Amino acid sequence: MGLKMNRKVLSLFVLLAITATAQCGNVYDITKYGAKSNNDANQALGQAWKAACASKVPSKVVVPKGTFRLSRAAFFGPCKAPIEFMIVGTLQAPQNPGGFKDGDGWVTFQDIDRLTLDGGGTFDGNGQNVWGKHCTRLNYCSKLPINLRFNFIKNSVIKSVTSLNSKQFHIMVLGGVNLSFRNLKIIAPEDSYNTDGIHIGRSTNISITDSYIQTGDDCISVGDGTKNLTVKGVTCGPGHGISIGSLGKYRNEAPVQGITVRDCTFKNTQNGVRIKTWPNANEGSASDLRFENLYMQNVGSPVLIDQEYCPWNQCNTQNPSKVKLSKISFKNIWGTSSTPLAVNLICSRGYPCQNVEVGNIDLKYKGKDGPAHSVCKNVNVKVTGKMNPSPCKFKA
Ligand SMILES: *[C@@H]1O[C@H](CO)[C@@H](O)[C@H](O)[C@H]1NC(C)=O
Ligand SMILES: *[C@@H]1O[C@H](CO)[C@@H](O)[C@H](O)[C@H]1NC(C)=O
Ligand SMILES: *[C@@H]1O[C@H](CO)[C@@H](O)[C@H](O)[C@H]1NC(C)=O
Repeated sequence: MGLKMNRKVLSLFVLLAITATAQCGNVYDITKYGAKSNNDANQALGQAWKAACASKVPSKVVVPKGTFRLSRAAFFGPCKAPIEFMIVGTLQAPQNPGGFKDGDGWVTFQDIDRLTLDGGGTFDGNGQNVWGKHCTRLNYCSKLPINLRFNFIKNSVIKSVTSLNSKQFHIMVLGGVNLSFRNLKIIAPEDSYNTDGIHIGRSTNISITDSYIQTGDDCISVGDGTKNLTVKGVTCGPGHGISIGSLGKYRNEAPVQGITVRDCTFKNTQNGVRIKTWPNANEGSASDLRFENLYMQNVGSPVLIDQEYCPWNQCNTQNPSKVKLSKISFKNIWGTSSTPLAVNLICSRGYPCQNVEVGNIDLKYKGKDGPAHSVCKNVNVKVTGKMNPSPCKFKA
């Protein structure tokens, strides 16, 4: 009996000790490192991160209330213990985007296991003066920085922060494993160029949930090598909608596999859900793609497969896309389309889409060139439940 009690007391003590360590883990407030609101925080942030990352107990970097200027930052791991980056105030980028190379992040997190980014604060990319000014049509403003880059991050949570007015993509994820993005706000105006909300590439076991994404380009875009991504409870718009691809532009692209987009709302977006691949280009594949329970409000192309994706006629559409698309379903999709072509499934002549299912669609178009209709090419669709617009004559 006595022994049992002792054990219980002991394990309670151990539990309390662990909890206490986690809760009171070292806190590294950037103002303790000399950062002041309305001043430059580069050095203070760097020092706070370095100290926190070296901590053997869970630690926390804190950006408190206030607006701190930051020209750029890279937070590298591996760290010795789980680490939290809590941003309560605002980190603000300079207006001038100089000094960045293609694909650089303004703020980059890299090689970290068990990162938590949270705090309710804002990463302000300050992009208002650069959109459309630093790009040619073919060079996509690639030297403009991406607001937040997550490179090779594992087992981490990114929640309750805002990405504002990014100069280029807001958030880019590369080589991630087991990441949860939730309660995010991503905001830039409709006419901001190339400001994709979240781009995921070469990553596995990722979820994006309960977030608002209003921007000038894709709400979420899924690049090659993405496996097991769930998008749920996201509201998109304005912007270009949720898109898989574009695929096939580059050589040796890895397959896209297991993407679910459900319970999302699209408001005034150019597209709803879209799969896009380049004609006359490289091999690739995307399979096991599910789109369900989606509400469309005044959306340009609510349901779209485009295997002839060729913006600005950069490619030869004579040769078909070599990206194989299979096991795709669009179910329970309703609301209004802003163009009469509500369901548009253009598959590749060389590799017709396999195993495509469409069910319970109810999309209305009110303009004078209506009613809504559907088009399909090189695809044999299985239709279940109600279909409005009525299914086109599906051709294999
Ligand atoms: C995934 O990441 C979360 C958050 O850090 C963690 O709690 C969970 O254990 C991880 N899952 C695996 C399989 O490692
Ligand atoms: C993804 O999650 C599944 C199920 O939890 C797990 O078996 C798999 O190993 C994970 N993938 C990676 C790359 O960690
Ligand atoms: C997919 O990823 C989620 C984490 O986002 C994980 O819980 C689930 O087990 C994974 N499923 C598979 C089939 O790997």
